[in-house]
Amino acid sequence: MSAGLSVHDFAVVSNEPVADGLMRVVFSAPELAAALRPGQFVNIHVPGDASQILRVPLSFSHADAAAGTVEIVYAVVGDATRRLSQMAPGATSTAVGPCGNPWPAVDGARRACVVAGGVGITPVVACARMLAGSGVAFDAVVGSQTAGRLWGADVLEALGAGTVAVTTDDGTAGRRGFTTDALADLLAQGGYDVVYTCGPEVMMAGVARICREAGVACRVSMERMMSCGFGACATCNVAMADGTYKSCCKDGPVFDAEEVAW
Ligand SMILES: Cc1cc2nc3c(=O)[nH]c(=O)nc-3n(C[C@H](O)[C@H](O)[C@H](O)COP(=O)(O)OP(=O)(O)OC[C@H]3O[C@@H](n4cnc5c(N)ncnc54)[C@H](O)[C@@H]3O)c2cc1C
Ligand code: FES
Repeated sequence: MSAGLSVHDFAVVSNEPVADGLMRVVFSAPELAAALRPGQFVNIHVPGDASQILRVPLSFSHADAAAGTVEIVYAVVGDATRRLSQMAPGATSTAVGPCGNPWPAVDGARRACVVAGGVGITPVVACARMLAGSGVAFDAVVGSQTAGRLWGADVLEALGAGTVAVTTDDGTAGRRGFTTDALADLLAQGGYDVVYTCGPEVMMAGVARICREAGVACRVSMERMMSCGFGACATCNVAMADGTYKSCCKDGPVFDAEEVAW
């Protein structure tokens, strides 16, 4: 395991639904909460199935050093996340972290836009906290398939986002269409220095293209299936534009969009 990573005991404080298929878990792990930086992730052991030895990589939306807690919004998609959704307050396990690299500050950036698709909202909320804390003005685009699966627009507003543009694929909330449509309109107004994004890869590819055309820096948080979570197994390779590969877990999960082979 690389330097800085350790195994932390945690105890669930709360674990509740926040939207259709989306849960928010808050757990207590004071040393981990103090060490995590926005954009990094944790690798959680979810108890309940001895045959499942792999940990679950999850980003976080808030690491509260004062309270000693970590907040994660996650989608229930398969066995491990279903078992995680059943961990009641008081349940205990372990989390490895801090994993990966944080969202980088972009030199001289004064205005940013954050773009979240689906459960990509989790590290995007952490990014917004970072921007708010460092005095960078920001707007936000939050998209989901349908109104029932939306989470986080109000959180981003409370964190100080100027504009929060909501999009849904089916038009049941906000603008009907994709996050990329709303982002293109915002960037057309000018004045942005950097865009931070996490969501489905096809969406991030679109965000990267729009940013390149607008001459705005873009940082993306990539997702890959993971095994070790610390750079030892090559499960999580991300193809780079120069023909090389980087590991999502150790070199990422945040990359400069220009480095990635979309
Ligand atoms: C760095 C990182 C941060 C992440 N942060 C979050 C987060 O904040 N919130 C959240 O809800 N999820 C996040 N994920 C995804 C999460 O790890 C997977 O949803 C989880 O591992 C699924 O486990 P499962 O056993 O419930 O489902 P499985 O049965 O393993 O999978 C269910 C479905 O999801 C697909 N899947 C599983 N893992 C991944 C993955 N890593 N990437 C793409 N598809 C996958 C499978 O192919 C399958 O179709 C993150 C992943 C990474 C790599
Ligand atoms: S998961 Fe093993 S190298 Fe990334």
